[in-house]
Amino acid sequence: MRVVLLGPPGAGKGTQAAAMRERYRTPHVSTGDMLRTAIAAGTPLGRTARALVDAGQLVPDDMMAGLVRDRLQESDAAGGFILDGFPRTVEQAEILGRLLDSMGRELDHVLLLGLEDAEVVRRLSGRRSCASCGAPYHVIAAPSRVEGRCDRCAPPGGTLVQRPDDREDVVAERLRVYHERTAPLADHYRRRGLLREVDASGSVEDVERRILVTLAGPAGAAKAAPRRAGGDRA
Ligand code: AP5
Repeated sequence: MRVVLLGPPGAGKGTQAAAMRERYRTPHVSTGDMLRTAIAAGTPLGRTARALVDAGQLVPDDMMAGLVRDRLQESDAAGGFILDGFPRTVEQAEILGRLLDSMGRELDHVLLLGLEDAEVVRRLSGRRSCASCGAPYHVIAAPSRVEGRCDRCAPPGGTLVQRPDDREDVVAERLRVYHERTAPLADHYRRRGLLREVDASGSVEDVERRILVTLAGPAGAAKAAPRRAGGDRA
């Protein structure tokens, strides 16, 4: 199964991709995670990307194209992938189309996770993660037992930190960039008969169920029959 997850920042793309990775035994390819890894490692790409990511701006298409091309050519992606965060512009969608053509592959579905801007702000302003182990938290929806400290690390627990681009002013800029540069992708994929729209409000489990139903629907069933494997919650 080859799936693209579209949607505004904080819609739950990463959360749902992690669940889909388990269910379908398909790698989760997140360009945001790849960039954060490059930034932490101080690679040339990471040094260029840091200021852009921290300001809520997009990294140039040619840099993203190289990153995604190399990742999709790895052996674990031969049978499929869940692409989260790419494409983000119509130009990137065209790059992806040409890349898949050259590999003799095609997309099965583009899932658009729809969420109101106000809920995006609520979700992202409360997101925290452990600086030591990376465990995710949310100050309201999934708080740690001791404020600011990770439950999973040995006492006193790792420090919980906020992503630099989750500050309120940067979230506003990410939303502006999403509406201007990424939202037009919906029409691009609708015209190709690939777009499936999913309401991303409600609980994580609600959204997970809607995705399952969507992929099992008339357009999805032929292409996305979930494999019954250990841990399959279908
Ligand atoms: P990226 O990391 O891709 O950021 P994003 O798209 O803004 O997505 P997020 O990770 O913030 O949100 P998400 O939709 O994955 O939601 P999540 O599941 O985490 O990109 C970061 C930056 O990198 C970009 O701004 C850009 O600079 C650069 N970049 C990346 N790709 C690029 C590209 N292709 N081209 C150019 N530049 C690129 O959930 C969010 C929070 O909500 C979490 O706390 C979660 O626990 C919670 N949550 C999730 N679902 C629910 C639910 N149903 N109910 C309540 N809470 C929920």
